[in-house]
Amino acid sequence: MKVIRSISELRNEIKGRQQEDLVGFVPTMGYLHAGHASLLQKARVECAIVVLSIFVNPMQFGPNEDFDKYPRDEERDLMLAKDAGVDIVFLPQVEEMYPHPSKTQVIVSDITTKLCGASRPVHFAGVTTVVSKLFHIIQPDKAYFGLKDAQQVAVITQMVEDLNMPVEIVPCPILREEDGLAMSSRNVYLSAEQRKEALVLSRTLFEAEQWITTDTPVLTADIRERIISRISASPLAEIDYVEILGYPTLQSIERLDIQNEEPIIIALAVKFGATRLIDNIIISIKRK
Ligand code: PAF
Repeated sequence: MKVIRSISELRNEIKGRQQEDLVGFVPTMGYLHAGHASLLQKARVECAIVVLSIFVNPMQFGPNEDFDKYPRDEERDLMLAKDAGVDIVFLPQVEEMYPHPSKTQVIVSDITTKLCGASRPVHFAGVTTVVSKLFHIIQPDKAYFGLKDAQQVAVITQMVEDLNMPVEIVPCPILREEDGLAMSSRNVYLSAEQRKEALVLSRTLFEAEQWITTDTPVLTADIRERIISRISASPLAEIDYVEILGYPTLQSIERLDIQNEEPIIIALAVKFGATRLIDNIIISIKRK
């Protein structure tokens, strides 16, 4: 496994490959967990060369967010990467990715103003800008993203389509701890009590799936109210949003109907103390 910190060295390394070798890319901000490992394993199965990037991207954090505090552990990450069979780890410093104040941003409109985009206004411009820089540097054939950040997957897929980027986006399922908590690098911030209460998120999402699959058609506003009241019953939970939308268009939906072609997403963001967790479930309700 090669660990590369400069863009020029990485470009040379990728250039030297056999043309027919597929390059699979997993972009991350490090502090890797089993969710990241599952993306790397999928890339390993499907591609001849697997590239992992680890870069905590300052551009996608707002001024009062956790950029400085974001967990970092290079040594542990490199061990996990090696175990997952990664060929190249790209580990640039901020100065390598942003050597001077950038005058260019990649901005996807509309779907970035909802869900996380409403409470984190600079976030998605930072994500799409850095991901498009990474795509230009690495030129992968396939890029793997976890559906825990389902809005991110929708936004990046849209960017790739709109800008004709020659890369296939591969969405991968959410990995959960045994008790249901969606895996996230930020889970490490939670106290034992918050960690216990955070289980209300996955529990409520699975319950909502039951209500929907047994009772359709129903009003989404009613389901949303039920979800909000379940989560609010947890004293440490402070809801940022609970939304039920079409996925991946993120269009509003009033009624769930078995004729709906597009799957729905129930997406939520909830704070436990200073830690904001997101989770979601995507449900196909069309029945013949
Ligand atoms: O999902 C993440 O970890 C980040 O948003 C990404 C895609 C690596 C871009 O910085």
